[in-house]
Amino acid sequence: MVLNFAHRGSLTEAPENTLPAFQKAIAHGAEAIELDVQLTKDRQLVVCHDHKLTRFNKNAPKRIIDMSLEEIKGIDVSGSFKEEYMGTTLPTLDEVLEICQDELLLNIEIKNIPVLYEGIEDILIRCLSEYNRLHNVIISSFDHMALKRIQDIAPSMPIGMLFYYRILQPWKYAEHSGLEVASIHPNQVYTDREFVKQCKASGYKVYPYTVNDLKHYEELVDFGVDGVFSNNPEIFGKVTSLK
Ligand code: G3P
Ligand code: CA
Repeated sequence: MVLNFAHRGSLTEAPENTLPAFQKAIAHGAEAIELDVQLTKDRQLVVCHDHKLTRFNKNAPKRIIDMSLEEIKGIDVSGSFKEEYMGTTLPTLDEVLEICQDELLLNIEIKNIPVLYEGIEDILIRCLSEYNRLHNVIISSFDHMALKRIQDIAPSMPIGMLFYYRILQPWKYAEHSGLEVASIHPNQVYTDREFVKQCKASGYKVYPYTVNDLKHYEELVDFGVDGVFSNNPEIFGKVTSLK
């Protein structure tokens, strides 16, 4: 079975990583969603990809880490979706967990500025634990030290190892990392048949990001990937899916 993730929710239909974007993805029948987490100045987990909000609101120049949750909740992130979603703000992780049923697989990506977000791993696991949501979650990061911390404090949490650049034999790197890696999340630009074969032979699931073109998606499925991260509802949606 191929399992596709709605990347930052349904970001072509609503502001990315917000409750409306996740609700849209759920309405498309997505079985899995991906979201990014960061810490505020007062150490609250907010769901956002960028370290600043200027892409969504030119009047918000500060970094997330330099703002309190209260300040962040005053910033409109509707961006290009202004007409329909004016007033939308970044959700906390708690708010996202509230709307996600247990059956929905969550890939939570820890944003990777470890010096800025020191301690984020413990706060994340505590939050999931409080929501009784330590199951049906994959935690991923480009920061493999963050993944190590996650595994130390939550040994049974599935770990997704993200790779942006090409490296030699990432499946061997994963094997020798000292981590129990569940899945390898490579950039789709270099994911070819041999890459998928080697990762799978080493026992890893393979979820490339971000795959929006249907033809390319079908090619990757033919290579044997276990799923992809996608912005395209035709790929991540079951209701709208061509599969
Ligand atoms: O987790 C897959 C993908 O989201 C990683 O890249 O930059 O979109 O967070 P990015
Ligand atoms: Ca991400």
